[in-house]
Amino acid sequence: MDLDGARVLVCGGGRRLGRAIAEDLAASGCSVAVSSRSTVEPVAVRDGRSTAALTADLTDATQARAVVVDAATALGGLDGVVYAAGGAFTPTTLEDITPELVEDALGSVVRGLIFVAQAAQQTLADGGSIVVIGDVAGMRGWPSYLPHSAAKGAQRALVSGLARSLAPRHRINVVHPGTVLPPDEVDADALERIVTRIPLGRIGAPQDIAAAVRYLLTADYVTGTELVVDGGRMAQ
Ligand SMILES: NC(=O)c1ccc[n+]([C@@H]2O[C@H](COP(=O)([O-])OP(=O)(O)OC[C@H]3O[C@@H](n4cnc5c(N)ncnc54)[C@H](OP(=O)(O)O)[C@@H]3O)[C@@H](O)[C@H]2O)c1
Repeated sequence: MDLDGARVLVCGGGRRLGRAIAEDLAASGCSVAVSSRSTVEPVAVRDGRSTAALTADLTDATQARAVVVDAATALGGLDGVVYAAGGAFTPTTLEDITPELVEDALGSVVRGLIFVAQAAQQTLADGGSIVVIGDVAGMRGWPSYLPHSAAKGAQRALVSGLARSLAPRHRINVVHPGTVLPPDEVDADALERIVTRIPLGRIGAPQDIAAAVRYLLTADYVTGTELVVDGGRMAQ
């Protein structure tokens, strides 16, 4: 796939990391649709490219399927999907976990991806590709973020299975970012402690993740793989 002129949907492209990825793809010459639960502005695209902003709650199977079809309608077809939606990233102790936190994590991370992939199988052009934004938290369960870690861990198995379901027409891969845009609760001291555990000495920039997404969207012989982009944190 050539990104210049490709048509890509970024689920969770309303803000923060998903937004940065959508803007990076637009700068690379893609037509881009972003989807979000709340209403958002479309991203600016190059002349001659299409842009769209869609609203869908991906925990709802009907809306998750429909957003893929709506993106293809808005862009005149679909070559790629970036699945960047994630549930709330809320620290909790084991005793404070509620059913709602678990539902939110599994709904936005796992359930939504299943139905987006189901619709993508019918909608993506030949050679089309899905890139999932996972999390290193899914590789080693984080005790303060158990619902999130569990959902991201389940997403890894899902990507592996979907790679075989979608082949040979379509591909799917996952990028696991380390810390890139920390939540507001992470103060300067906590951030410094995180950085001491990162061999490359800094947290990630959104552009580091966007570059990995661009690679996986265009890597025609790569499917079912996991690309860790964390400055070496998981290498320890
Ligand atoms: N930020 C980091 O440093 C980091 C590190 C590792 C992994 N990640 C992963 O990267 C992804 C993006 O991270 P982020 O920090 O930018 O997340 P975020 O600030 O929570 O933004 C998530 C985006 O996904 C949308 N979304 C969430 N649940 C949805 C649902 N059920 N239906 C539709 N849209 C939904 C949100 O829409 P609304 O705003 O309308 O709710 C928002 O646009 C997540 O999967 C996260 O786990 C992030």
